[in-house]
Amino acid sequence: MVDLTTRLGDARLPNPVMTASGCAAAGRELAQFFDVADLGAVVTKSIMLDPRSGRPTPRMAETPSGMLNSIGLQGPGVDGFLAQDLPWLVQRRARPIVSIAGSTVGEYAELARRVGNSPGVTAVEVNISCPNVENRGLVFACDPLQASTVVAAVKERTPPGVPVLAKLSPDVTSIVEVARSVVEAGADGLVMVNTLLGLAIDPDTLRPVLGGVTGGLSGPAIRPVAVRCVWQVHQAMPDVPVVGVGGVRTGYDALEMLLAGASAVQVGTVIFNDPGAPVRILAELRSELESRGFARAADAVGYAHRKPDEELL
Ligand SMILES: Cc1cc2nc3c(=O)[nH]c(=O)nc-3n(C[C@H](O)[C@H](O)[C@H](O)COP(=O)(O)O)c2cc1C
Repeated sequence: MVDLTTRLGDARLPNPVMTASGCAAAGRELAQFFDVADLGAVVTKSIMLDPRSGRPTPRMAETPSGMLNSIGLQGPGVDGFLAQDLPWLVQRRARPIVSIAGSTVGEYAELARRVGNSPGVTAVEVNISCPNVENRGLVFACDPLQASTVVAAVKERTPPGVPVLAKLSPDVTSIVEVARSVVEAGADGLVMVNTLLGLAIDPDTLRPVLGGVTGGLSGPAIRPVAVRCVWQVHQAMPDVPVVGVGGVRTGYDALEMLLAGASAVQVGTVIFNDPGAPVRILAELRSELESRGFARAADAVGYAHRKPDEELL
């Protein structure tokens, strides 16, 4: 049997497969397909301070090998989340990683304080792919200084023992530069990547397909981008735990993320057409590791970076 346990800072998970934020709400919808406690963790839809209704419709468009979405941060707000969603996950013995999002540094700090101090939270994931209303709507994740300011504020309000994971955008010139600055600001781990900004136009209506005009591209189309980001950051900072996300559909894809340097993987878009995908991918990953002779998933992390004289297998 392969040892699948993994660590993200102070969080020890029984296996490295989790949901991706926004692709399974707060996990409840998945309970009819599998036991959410079987996953390494359940990452919740990014929560904001106040309830939000999201962006105008239509909010989804199919593209070759991917999906464009402009859902926006629709949700119940932190009060509703803490009253209803979090207790359900804790009661199910799932390990909740709570994703938070804000429009100002102060909002992130307040969310971190409220969420981080709630019993049962395994980690806080900071979604910094949001516009900063205090700075011309510039997306936090696209600027190393703004990204690190948010992460420092979150880290300061989050109790010790609850790791802070920063989720990065691939829409930057140097992902390593942003990664380094959020790690220096206190991030215990990195999640890569969020969606890539895209746009689809319908030549029949002569107009953009999505009500919000632009949307986030996800699915298999972005996997090589995600693998490249994981690879570059692992190479620059091999001791920082990384969670790989982007287009993972099979255990084979998940193994690719581990080999690039990810200690865990998140499963997103595939859930929309195969809700049982996270547990299927977990079973497939186990047998992919076993068939290659890996005794521990941890041994596969970053394996593709090894020089020939460092090979284990
Ligand atoms: C419909 C939809 C909603 C999403 N909502 C969020 C969100 O609330 N917060 C976040 O950090 N990422 C969000 N994401 C991004 C995913 O968590 C993930 O980073 C991205 O989709 C790439 O993974 P995938 O190709 O496996 O879907 C969303 C993605 C989709 C498709």
